[in-house]
Amino acid sequence: MTDLMVEASVVTKDYKISRGLFRGKEVLRAVDKVSLSVNRGETLAVVGESGCGKTTLAKIILGLLEPDSGTVKLCGIPINEISRTDLAKLVQPIFQDPYSSLNPRKTIGSIIQLPLIVQGDKNPENWRKRVLTTMDLVGLPSRMFDQFPNQLSGGQRQRVAIARALINRPKIVICDEPTSALDVSVQSQILNLLNELRRELDLTYVLISHNLAVVEHMATRVAVMYFGEKVEEAETDQLFKQPKHDYTKTLLEFYSHS
Ligand SMILES: Nc1ncnc2c1ncn2[C@@H]1O[C@H](COP(=O)(O)OP(=O)(O)OP(=O)(O)O)[C@@H](O)[C@H]1O
Ligand SMILES: [Mg+2]
Repeated sequence: MTDLMVEASVVTKDYKISRGLFRGKEVLRAVDKVSLSVNRGETLAVVGESGCGKTTLAKIILGLLEPDSGTVKLCGIPINEISRTDLAKLVQPIFQDPYSSLNPRKTIGSIIQLPLIVQGDKNPENWRKRVLTTMDLVGLPSRMFDQFPNQLSGGQRQRVAIARALINRPKIVICDEPTSALDVSVQSQILNLLNELRRELDLTYVLISHNLAVVEHMATRVAVMYFGEKVEEAETDQLFKQPKHDYTKTLLEFYSHS
């Protein structure tokens, strides 16, 4: 059993973008030879400005995108050797926008229970119980089981997305700007919840954020990305005290003035 939960080695991803009808394709390198590893129980933050490749990297770690070169291992196993269903049991995403990620026509109960059915839990009597236990875990009252997403607040909707991600008890969770769409007052509640859940369920997080306050509050280590490359990585305290790369220094300067 390894404690190395995520290991990405020299991962590169290009997008081919059309430049118009007769002008052929241009290649955009979204992720450029990025290596990172995350140990069990850690939160690795990935920071960097818009368009620097954070979400692309997240999708590669989730197995939603294949890298052009490089490898990703989860729990020591190459990701391309893990079946779809096993992958979904191992790693789950929590995305930024709980409005667009929840089907407005489904009840909260059925949204959270869907991954159980996908994973082939053949015991419908179990479903309700497991959903209610997970709802309780993320701080959703059971009466919301039969309600619809539009009847919930933004924070409650993000709790539904978290419950859905955790119902099959994954080991790794990739949070891509998990609180950026939320009201400031709700952000810290959700971040505290994510921290509690990590300890309680022995989770390992990759946390993507451009908000350094979030990073300081949550992360064990921080990787800084700049135009697709990882330009710096350090323990959180160390990075805030002694940034090395010029881009990191600029980021922190803006942070201390904001
Ligand atoms: N499907 C796609 N096809 C073509 N280009 C893409 C695609 N997805 C992303 N890109 C480009 O790749 C680069 C990296 O995008 P990515 O979404 O990974 O950035 P990001 O760091 O998550 O940005 P943000 O902070 O705004 O979410 C950007 O220049 C983006 O325009
Ligand atoms: Mg993104």
